[in-house]
Amino acid sequence: MHVAVCSVALGVILTGICPARAQETTREKLLMDFGWKFHLGNEWGTGEGPINLGVSTGPARSGFEDSSWATVNLPHDWAVALPFDRNASASHGFKPIGPKFPENSVGWYRRTFTLPAEDAGKRIWIEFGGVYRDSLVYVNNCLVGRQPRGYSSFRYDVTDVVRYGGRNTVAVRVDASQFEGWFYEGAGIYRHVWLVKTAPLAVAPDGTFVYSRFKNNVPQGPAEINIETRLANFKTNSADAEVDYEILDPDGKNVATSRANATVAPSGTREVKQKTYVASPVLWSPETPRLYKLVTTIQSGGKIMDRVETEFGVRTLAFDPNKGFFLNGKPYLIKGTANHQDHAGVGSALPDALQYFRVRTLKEMGSNAIRTAHNEPTEELLEACDRLGMLVLDESRVFASDAQDLALLENQVRRDRNHASVFLWSLGNEEPLESSPIAARVGRTMQTLVHHLDPSRLATFAANNGNEFLGVNSVIDVRGWNYDTGKDMDEYHAAHPEQPNIGTETASILTTRGIYVIDQARGYQSAYDDSGNLPREDTNTAESWWTYYAARPWASGGFSWTGFDYRGENGWPDINANYGIIDMAGFPKDDFFYYQSWWSDKPVLHLLPHWNWSGKEGQNIDVRCFSNLDEVELFLNGVSLGRKVMPRNSHLQWMVPYASGTLMARGYKNGKSMTEEKVETTGPPAAIKLTPDRTPINPDGEDLSIITVAITDAQARVLPVADNLVSFEISGAGKIIGVGNGDPSSHEPDVYLPYTNDRQIAMNDWRMRLVLDTKDRPEVAETFSDADWERDDVNTETGPLRENTSAVFRTNVNLTAEDLTAGSIMLRFGMIDDDGWVYVNGQPVGESHDWRASPTFDVRKFLHAGDNSIAVAVHNGDGPGGINKGVSLILPSKTVAANWKRNVFNGLAQVIVQSGTEPGEIRLTAHADRLAAKTVVIEAKGHSPRPQAAP
Ligand code: GAL
Repeated sequence: MHVAVCSVALGVILTGICPARAQETTREKLLMDFGWKFHLGNEWGTGEGPINLGVSTGPARSGFEDSSWATVNLPHDWAVALPFDRNASASHGFKPIGPKFPENSVGWYRRTFTLPAEDAGKRIWIEFGGVYRDSLVYVNNCLVGRQPRGYSSFRYDVTDVVRYGGRNTVAVRVDASQFEGWFYEGAGIYRHVWLVKTAPLAVAPDGTFVYSRFKNNVPQGPAEINIETRLANFKTNSADAEVDYEILDPDGKNVATSRANATVAPSGTREVKQKTYVASPVLWSPETPRLYKLVTTIQSGGKIMDRVETEFGVRTLAFDPNKGFFLNGKPYLIKGTANHQDHAGVGSALPDALQYFRVRTLKEMGSNAIRTAHNEPTEELLEACDRLGMLVLDESRVFASDAQDLALLENQVRRDRNHASVFLWSLGNEEPLESSPIAARVGRTMQTLVHHLDPSRLATFAANNGNEFLGVNSVIDVRGWNYDTGKDMDEYHAAHPEQPNIGTETASILTTRGIYVIDQARGYQSAYDDSGNLPREDTNTAESWWTYYAARPWASGGFSWTGFDYRGENGWPDINANYGIIDMAGFPKDDFFYYQSWWSDKPVLHLLPHWNWSGKEGQNIDVRCFSNLDEVELFLNGVSLGRKVMPRNSHLQWMVPYASGTLMARGYKNGKSMTEEKVETTGPPAAIKLTPDRTPINPDGEDLSIITVAITDAQARVLPVADNLVSFEISGAGKIIGVGNGDPSSHEPDVYLPYTNDRQIAMNDWRMRLVLDTKDRPEVAETFSDADWERDDVNTETGPLRENTSAVFRTNVNLTAEDLTAGSIMLRFGMIDDDGWVYVNGQPVGESHDWRASPTFDVRKFLHAGDNSIAVAVHNGDGPGGINKGVSLILPSKTVAANWKRNVFNGLAQVIVQSGTEPGEIRLTAHADRLAAKTVVIEAKGHSPRPQAAP
């Protein structure tokens, strides 16, 4: 098995030596997701000060008081918690965000992290999986970077500006005022954040590339494993590195090792290229998602400097213009779905477990591929696809060849190219200029870069210009087809027999789970796979696109628009686009079973619609059956309505006069009865049923149990027309993070936040006296008499002080013992212009040196029952100054727990429960009127939290 041959590049030693087992390495990757402070609002501008290092304003400043802000964990999408608003953008799901809603479109996140003194000398990075959008990141008052794009991962080297042996502050301003797409995009830090530490000599960020090749691309015999490592040396002297590679097979067995030596110039990088071989490798495919692991160890001066583990798959990919896509040397039809990245309950902020849930649901349908429409995916989605087995068409949001966007494309390819699941790059989707010479040039530039960075894959572009060999189509490796299935596509293929093809986007049929009569007023389409549900002429039903592609292997198969419903892109009252085969919450619609019949290997027999048509007795009901068996016989209340042969890639249909009871289908294979399926007229609601997708879950503060809530009748049959309101209580080692039900026009919240009924005391009665300076003023003492001072109105836009003057301002506030039971009492100034020293009962409580900030101080511990004095010594530099824009004391009442609830939609709803960081039981209880309460217990045990950055 073991072939260890090394070759090429730099000072390479050709041996099969076993690298020293890495014990200690300096690399640490610490999760920074927990304990952020969050504020929605744009009171402070961008946080930028004059352009001086360490000069910033408002929440960007380390000392900024954020204790009154909400505490949130990442991933976080603040848009999902906003109410629906008919005046907001339809394409963005009627959430009041974007250009017309500046008050909801800027958010600030802050948290601290501590670095031990021993970290001095290491490289320190903060990595963001994705922030929607236009983020500014400050560390210890220093602006460390800006990322306008909302779907790119990015990282900042913060080595120079962090405090070693102390606490550091990171502040992120997020501005979602602009849209990037025409679909719901969320807002906030919606992917993970990491703190990464490395030695000054280490593998550079995304500096590993490993891919396999076989002779003539035929997956037989040994696989050639190509390894490229980019080393980064941050030292001022050159460094000699010994790079050891170890390849572990899917069972963890070492199957190849090799070693290279390289000298890396001071402050430089160096590429190390290696080749090794794995004899008779296990091939990766969606059906056999077996992963190898490359372990890269860097040593220098006899010390281990770095160790990086990289999962990869061994497999071959090929596109043939006449035979279509090949995986591991065999024709392989893409049975794909395009998907946006939001889900019920959580918006665009999907915990990793939800990525796995979605991939598993699609696999259950028999799907083998996902297109990440229309943007760079979350990396954890790729990980789920690698491990569970799902091909990925990895798409770029931006189709452009300017330097900045090419750099982002390079980042995307470097980050994602080790993922076994990624089989093709998509440079873009339906660009207005796609047929132009400009698009040909831009496409060629992007594609050349992709080839340069990744010789193992080709590129496509999702074009909707039909039979046109113009623009990007004329240069792209694989012609991507958005719609135009039929004559256009056949003629194009005949005219360009040298170019492979793929269905980048197909179908686009609007269906609503469990609805069989179109109801415009409520925004419901029917769930039948009928052309009446198509939004435009160029789109297809599930059956019409799949029969076309299944008959044309050269077309490679394609991606249905979409796997899951997504928010936005629909008209009021719909807040979801119901193009999904599966609804927002992950419940299958009927078309799921059409695909499952023809995409999966399992025997499928599915009947629609439900059989609750009281009032329609005697009227014809359109009954359909999806199955991959040979024949199906239908029975109503035991009477046969005929046996029919199932046409391939199609369905069966009967018109059945309604009578309550049981509609039953019997499926036959090779003439033998194989299985039965029935729909029955149900009784009234009798019980709540709670079904978790997983238990136990990990007590890591991230893992989820996704709970299906069903209303059933007395015989435990799910009621297909129930709409009961169910409320939820949770206790123990977890919390609810979102609810949903897949109803495209439900305007119920997905998120219920705990709230406090803050009481604000406006402090309007101020007096002031001019003073010569602000130091050690006797006027700030608790009992100093201000009876003869001038009155001052603090609610004006500018203050009373002229340039270069100082004054003391005083007021009193009377509080009861009850007021003082609050955990914190915040004293908030609209503005202190320019510098202020604040005293409560003669005691200094804080300072403010930023006239743009709204300084806020927790003064609880300085207050007592009865009269309290508040004094502020103010120095004004330029222009008018003083205290203005109002002053208030904020007394929070006790936090009221969120009251989670949701109507079931056609019998079903979903509750997403997340573990805390402690093991234990999580008890979820559901209540509904006139039904007995139901409790489900989920256990949190197993893996503890991932390594965390200390606050
Ligand atoms: C496509 C587009 C998708 C979506 C779809 C709806 O043309 O690429 O993003 O808008 O239409 O049918």
